[in-house]
Amino acid sequence: MTISGAAMVGGVCGAPVKHSMSPLIHNAWIAAAGIDAVYAPFAPTLESFEAFVNGLRGGAIKGLNVTIPFKERALACADTASDLARMAGAANLLVFKEDGSIHGDNTDGPGLLGAITAQAPGFDVTAAPVVILGAGGAARGAVAALLLAGAPKVAIVNRTLARAQELVDAFGDKVVAADEGALPELLAEAGLIINATSLGLGGGEGPAADFALTPENAVVMDMVYKPLRTEFLQRAQAAGRRTVDGLEMLLRQAIPSFEAIYGAAPSPEVDVRGMALKLLGEPC
Ligand code: ATR
Repeated sequence: MTISGAAMVGGVCGAPVKHSMSPLIHNAWIAAAGIDAVYAPFAPTLESFEAFVNGLRGGAIKGLNVTIPFKERALACADTASDLARMAGAANLLVFKEDGSIHGDNTDGPGLLGAITAQAPGFDVTAAPVVILGAGGAARGAVAALLLAGAPKVAIVNRTLARAQELVDAFGDKVVAADEGALPELLAEAGLIINATSLGLGGGEGPAADFALTPENAVVMDMVYKPLRTEFLQRAQAAGRRTVDGLEMLLRQAIPSFEAIYGAAPSPEVDVRGMALKLLGEPC
């Protein structure tokens, strides 16, 4: 596949960006679609993010995925933004319009919901409360997506209760903040339990949660995907609960990103999950 001077350019920016799997995924979809396009990694310095983004106005590139630590600053650069990006307080996708404006979006939310649909088919997010462990940027994005999808109640359990309370203040009365002591009661009524802390990353223990207390049809999801089968998910599986992994969320957020940047649907024929598992050193 050759890249011509007329190629559509997209990319991802982060600091660091070198571990991003997005270039692998998007370029595989570009190759399968046979389009004249490229997806490149960009690593602006912490100080230069705004200058970098504003320099792209006018369509020098079509769109940019944004990853840690720039998602909040990306939203601030956008002239217009989707409801989800505004609710999440973060944009992981910037689309550069020909008129020089920037539109911010958040595809992490559709990624989360898409992963649940894929790995826990039939799950109804409107049927029971959700318990989210953690109150950082990842948790905030999850709350926004789940409320927009119709979750009746979202309980935030966090080591630092004040941070959980900030989410209640931001989202209103469908969200409650609780400490670990309230977990047994919350788990007993939960339809979905999500780890949005960084615990378990690199193979350590995930957050405490006794999955035997949850309803038998509860679904357990981990946003951590290194390793793929986190200790948190292993415990959920041992208790007989359905699980959803963080890799599927990462792969699913890429689909609407690709569509927005290149104006084409990614081919389902490309085994992006297999490619990502190989990159992560996980068995396929
Ligand atoms: P992100 O943007 O990925 O969500 P973050 O804002 O740093 O990252 O949030 C990390 C989350 O993991 C927070 O909820 C954090 O809890 P605190 O708000 O109390 O810091 C949680 N977390 C990280 N390390 C933790 C630990 N050792 N025990 C409990 N929670 C932890």
